[in-house]
Amino acid sequence: MQDMKKIIERINILKTELDAVILAHNYQRPEVQDIADFTGDSLGLSQQVVNSDADVIVFCGVDFMAESAAILSPEKIVLLPEKDAGCPMAEMVDVISLDDEKKKHPDAAVVCYVNSSALIKAQSDICCTSANAIDVVNSLEEDEVIFVPDKNLGNYVAGFTDKMIYSWDGFCPTHHQMRGHDVIKAKEEHPDALFLAHPECRTEVLDLADEVLSTTGMLNYAKKSDAKEFIIGTENGLLHRLSKENPEKKLYYVSEFTICTNMKITTLESVLDALENMQYVITVPEDTRLKAKEALDRMLAVKR
Ligand code: 13P
Ligand code: SF4
Repeated sequence: MQDMKKIIERINILKTELDAVILAHNYQRPEVQDIADFTGDSLGLSQQVVNSDADVIVFCGVDFMAESAAILSPEKIVLLPEKDAGCPMAEMVDVISLDDEKKKHPDAAVVCYVNSSALIKAQSDICCTSANAIDVVNSLEEDEVIFVPDKNLGNYVAGFTDKMIYSWDGFCPTHHQMRGHDVIKAKEEHPDALFLAHPECRTEVLDLADEVLSTTGMLNYAKKSDAKEFIIGTENGLLHRLSKENPEKKLYYVSEFTICTNMKITTLESVLDALENMQYVITVPEDTRLKAKEALDRMLAVKR
């Protein structure tokens, strides 16, 4: 293994030479987050893509995120350092099944969580992220909504709208394995802590939450809150930034098992390889890209 300092130096040299920007999701390995120009949630990262004038975007996250970047900014070269970094939840909905569901509910709008493929986005009316899902759904004229692919997020949103929500049967394995009894145990161990949960968690977990927030929502909340202790109900990688930004606060995860292995595949070495070899370039066929972009643009126009 090359010396970490040398790898970081080389990454910084190549970044300047190539006019590249490194974006990292809040679940990435600590050392990858630390070399990124911007670390954020799915919504924040999409906004960065749109606002960046860099030639190259190195997307340290999973494939649907890099795909969204390629959809929004086709003039930029989008690199996903690890081509196998996928999202199992995004695989849980396919074009044919969604088409069948649309036929069953012809008056429903299709809202698609960004954790989905470009093809599914292209088949949807509007996208959403965990940060804006309620606002997105309530911005629609339709009274019925097919919500794909996350049933937990869909069911959560259903509690904040008068619309009929038909939730798909997908889920995030990382968040879905957290159970109510895990939270109750953590609360017993840390009775003064507030519990912040991500809306990809099961309803039984969300029912125990003091706040339900996206990853960046949790970061903002923890910083502003007077509370001194937090139990964090999301992928454990978030604790890196949370503890950096709140050194005086005590942070606990619900379970040591709340790890997204796909988010951890990317290493500093993969980032360096990405820049040295311009790999792996993510592109989307133009007809799909244009339709998917409409759904993403429509989402970005909804106020957070
Ligand atoms: P956010 O960071 O947008 O809350 O998303 C969580 C997630 O699971 C991304 O894969
Ligand atoms: Fe997909 Fe869940 Fe991993 Fe996010 S945390 S990338 S939703 S598997």
